[in-house]
Amino acid sequence: MKFFIDTANLEMIQEAQDLGILDGVTTNPSLMAKEGISGNENIINHYKKICEIVDGDVSAEVISTDFEGMIREGEALAKLHSNIVVKVPIIKDGIKAIKYFSDNGIKTNCTLIFSAGQALLAAKAGATYVSPFIGRLDDVSTDGMDLIAQIRDIYDNYMFDTEILAASVRHPMHIIQCAEIGADVMTGPLSAITALLNHPLTDIGLAKFLADFKKVNG
Ligand code: G3P
Repeated sequence: MKFFIDTANLEMIQEAQDLGILDGVTTNPSLMAKEGISGNENIINHYKKICEIVDGDVSAEVISTDFEGMIREGEALAKLHSNIVVKVPIIKDGIKAIKYFSDNGIKTNCTLIFSAGQALLAAKAGATYVSPFIGRLDDVSTDGMDLIAQIRDIYDNYMFDTEILAASVRHPMHIIQCAEIGADVMTGPLSAITALLNHPLTDIGLAKFLADFKKVNG
């Protein structure tokens, strides 16, 4: 399973990259706003900086909701760097735009997926990735993981190339469950990724190894 980090924070992206396990980055307008990035030129420069840090796909989301606007924005974003993947919402014009981008060799991430039907349409349009939002489904008492499993079955039935990018990951159990089900990619905060390291027996074991070493070596 590929590990993407879901942030526009350059320090966190660098930290994840330095761990050596980072495969890509996802952003969205909320995450860009969180970093205080505004204005077309600043936004473009920020995407370029992210692409310089990570050697992998970087999702950059369009703001337009009409076909022409999405094509204009998406083509401009794709020209910024070969790592850029154009992120498009699952709406009617979004599906048309994904089909256009797919026919023209531009990678896409179809976002705001909350149902298997939406994921099926996105795959038929040729999306590179679909982003089901696990955490936001959990927030409304619906098991987000059931959706990942449903999409996995559907894509396997028809051998769709579209990759399942489990998004809105909030904690390490989400990551483990995604890996069990067979999501192709997960994107989450750095805290969820580093939490995979934690186990009290590891801490206790390491402390004992070091103490025993000290006993005989001073
Ligand atoms: O990748 C989608 C993600 O940014 C949404 O996450 O935590 O805002 O639901 P969250």
